[in-house]
Amino acid sequence: MTATPTSEIRKGLAGVVADTSAISKVNPATNSLLYRGYPVQDLAARVSFEEVAYLLWHGELPTAEQLAEQTRAERAARTLPDDVKAAILELPTACHPMDVCRTAVSQLGAHDPQAEDSSVEAELAKALRLWAVMPSVVALDQRRRRGELGVEPRDDLGYSANFLWMAFGAEPEPAVVKAFEASMVLYAEHSFNASTFTARVITSTLADMHSAVTGAIGALKGPLHGGANEAVQETFEEIGSADRAVAWLEDALASKKKIMGFGHRVYKNGDSRVPTMRSVLGDMVEHYGEPGVLDLYDTLEQAMFERKNIRPNLDYPAGPAYHLMGFDTNIFTPLFVASRMTGWTAHVMEQRAANALIRPVCEYNGPEQREVPGSAR
Ligand code: ACO
Repeated sequence: MTATPTSEIRKGLAGVVADTSAISKVNPATNSLLYRGYPVQDLAARVSFEEVAYLLWHGELPTAEQLAEQTRAERAARTLPDDVKAAILELPTACHPMDVCRTAVSQLGAHDPQAEDSSVEAELAKALRLWAVMPSVVALDQRRRRGELGVEPRDDLGYSANFLWMAFGAEPEPAVVKAFEASMVLYAEHSFNASTFTARVITSTLADMHSAVTGAIGALKGPLHGGANEAVQETFEEIGSADRAVAWLEDALASKKKIMGFGHRVYKNGDSRVPTMRSVLGDMVEHYGEPGVLDLYDTLEQAMFERKNIRPNLDYPAGPAYHLMGFDTNIFTPLFVASRMTGWTAHVMEQRAANALIRPVCEYNGPEQREVPGSAR
């Protein structure tokens, strides 16, 4: 490939078209997001997260037989290898749960017999195994931090119901499964966001899938990306109630703080996923009888729009929704990991299928060439 350096610097690669992708289409002009051509809000309403995973990997929704085969394989791959489980239990609880996810995926790579096999079949099998096992990692981590024993996966439950079962050790209520499932579908894929692009950069060196996903988890951890859903909940707790929201916001903006859960690099008129997740949050508020959450949500959203003309992103409704479901705040971004595993691995496979090493250039702005001084000794 010939590289023709351009003199224009696009800080943060903003607006740079780095490649093509057939996995999802983000259209900021119409506030829409399509997975393989299907509107994400319709997928969230009509199909399961398992079907969405299949769609992202294969390009089409599964037939009944294809879904049954994937379901069988996913349920068979839910259990963590003993040594990975033991390693998780040994990690300090002072570390962030995203560190646990990152470490677990890296270790799973070291154990995976197909780690270095980049055939399409092996890549699909690894993607499925990584996706299937993430609830075991995340749930075990939340439980050990609470001083609870791990709960084994159940193969009579779908992905989301089993996730909730392992996290809380109780049969999940259908309304909560439905809400959680919608969040999994909404978080699954979002084109060349920072973590997905990281996965593609790593894949472009011909490194293995587990390395790409490990790097993606590192990128997702930051509060400007996935970490924002945790920061939103912390903001809600700091504000406390709707009547304090406006004063809090004015203070925060006066001290030039970024308000977590607001703004987006691509969407400038609203994140396509927010209306669906706002409705899910409404369902959870009704289910758990906590109307104050929505009062605060709406008041802060409106005040932010009036003052800064900035709208919420998906993390804004997702944070309080996960809190109502009973998850600890520091587990919210790992939930995002489990969902986005589908999108990341789809991009790893797409990158590998038509690879070019991703290696931009930079404009040097350090000292000009100079002489090394003689040794002072
Ligand atoms: N709070 C306050 N001001 C904001 C916010 C915000 N959340 N977002 C943007 N702005 C302001 C900026 O201060 C800037 O103002 P200025 O021109 O007066 O300096 C202007 O809007 C443009 O903002 P940028 O940061 O340049 O926009 P960018 O596209 O680089 O950033 C980002 C997008 C990082 C998401 C930003 O909006 C932000 O930091 N949001 C908070 C973190 C967050 O919610 N991240 C989740 C992203 S979505 C996801 O991962 C699911």
